[in-house]
Amino acid sequence: MRKYGDPKVTARLRARLSLPLIVAPMFLVSGRNLVVASSSNGLVGSIPALNARTTEILDSWIGDIVVSLETAGATAPFAVNLIAHASNTRLDADVDLMVKHKVPIAISSVGAPDRLIDSIHGYGGLVFSDAATVRHAKRAASAGVDGLVLLSAGAGGNTGWLSPFAFLAEVRSFFDGPIALAGGISSGRQIAAAEMMGADFVLMGTTFIATRESDADQAYRDMLIESGADDVVTTEKLTGIPANILRASLERSGFSEGGNHKGFSVNRDAELMKMWRDIWSAGHGVGGVTRIASVRDEVERLTHERAATFRRNQLIAEAY
Ligand SMILES: Cc1cc2nc3c(=O)[nH]c(=O)nc-3n(C[C@H](O)[C@H](O)[C@H](O)COP(=O)(O)O)c2cc1C
Repeated sequence: MRKYGDPKVTARLRARLSLPLIVAPMFLVSGRNLVVASSSNGLVGSIPALNARTTEILDSWIGDIVVSLETAGATAPFAVNLIAHASNTRLDADVDLMVKHKVPIAISSVGAPDRLIDSIHGYGGLVFSDAATVRHAKRAASAGVDGLVLLSAGAGGNTGWLSPFAFLAEVRSFFDGPIALAGGISSGRQIAAAEMMGADFVLMGTTFIATRESDADQAYRDMLIESGADDVVTTEKLTGIPANILRASLERSGFSEGGNHKGFSVNRDAELMKMWRDIWSAGHGVGGVTRIASVRDEVERLTHERAATFRRNQLIAEAY
């Protein structure tokens, strides 16, 4: 079978990070503060381009991020998330901004990444693509992306549905480049488990919604702390593709489970914006969110938990 991807890209990226962790781009949640806090603490921070209402606003935000990271002396890169779907009329203008600022990583989601690859590679940037199916992962790999984000079951936002065990194993059989596993990961032990399964990085969203540096509402953070995996509902009725939503926020907004919600496209119109402001998403890992902490605190916790897991595994390996 033909192999895609380059393991040297993984090694180069990993060397710049304190943990093999990409902080997920999250609509209305990830702002400049979260990106800067993430990348200055050794993680890949990220922001969805569409969090900025216009390309001009995005231009100034990216400028601010670059200056803040330079001032902080950050070694870790940051990423901008671009929706590659045909309904995103801003894509070309936002790609031009990536080129202007030489944004280190583009994360492409909802659609084929082909339109981005040449422009981003032109200045030495990396393109990662989200994939929720093996077919989509292979399609992105053959188009020439540098890395893949595998959205497995239990992810926040638009979720995948495949088991991470099966998904990762199948994609690893044809992709040697960096793979970030996503979906329900909220502890250092789970990061270690993902690495043992063959992932190079994890991508975590839900855990970072509750950090002090996110743009999330206080009531959203409180709901995360009170919720567990059973409180997450998967529905296609909000975005047209399966998304994981906190049941309590649906009920509060007058939706009943199984009710007939209105579907809409991925185009971020006013109605969709309003909806995401009141209807809150979380992945199955929400039970691991137990406090409001800074990004630095979370990095310390995750680092400690991951190291303790590897030490325990070492002891087990020596004993048997
Ligand atoms: C509130 C929220 C908003 C999200 N918005 C986006 C988005 O705009 N673009 C995107 O590619 N992914 C988005 N996601 C998905 C995340 O990038 C990521 O795949 C997911 O959070 C990983 O799963 P986890 O939350 O279980 O860690 C969002 C997730 C959440 C929770």
